[in-house]
Amino acid sequence: MILKEHVDHVLIDEQELLARIAELAAEVSHDYAGVDNLLLVCVLKGAIMFLSDFSRQLDIPHAIDFMAISSYGASTKSSGVVRILMDLKANILDRHVLIVEDIVDSGRTLDYILRNLGTRGPASLKVCTLLDKKEQRVLPVPVDYVGFEIPDEFVIGYGLDFDELYRNLPFIGVLKPEFYE
Ligand code: PRP
Repeated sequence: MILKEHVDHVLIDEQELLARIAELAAEVSHDYAGVDNLLLVCVLKGAIMFLSDFSRQLDIPHAIDFMAISSYGASTKSSGVVRILMDLKANILDRHVLIVEDIVDSGRTLDYILRNLGTRGPASLKVCTLLDKKEQRVLPVPVDYVGFEIPDEFVIGYGLDFDELYRNLPFIGVLKPEFYE
């Protein structure tokens, strides 16, 4: 069975993704015009596709760095325990930092990252997420730029995985229940 046959339906197709990312990039380029030390912080692994397309659409100078975060515990998503697997290479003291996420769900990951990076003295700290699953929010987190608000469905593709698969799909889709049940 080919990969696309695992998909129940497409939620956001490739064209819609790229069009919205261009809009977000225009907004961010406008808001950060004149800022000469912008750093995009990509939260691995889910945000890699978004970071890659978003960064190429920005027309302001910026650097990129990566951070890997993991939740762990008996039930990973509900444990609320978050830790850093890989930290930034960059020192963010006095830098303008924009966190790039693929999805904000419960808000636990972002809450942790914001609190952690906030202690390092950035000049500013903002958040840009491609997807926002607001219905699932447990912790209120400030999100400055949102690509799409999405319903509470099992989404995969464009960086998002199930069991490490499907990240390479060029669209955001909903996985057929038979593949995760
Ligand atoms: C996903 C996503 C966010 C986080 C959002 O990462 O990339 O970082 O979950 O969920 P939350 O708002 O409930 O914390 P995941 O832990 O699945 O790792 P991955 O990006 O490597 O797939």
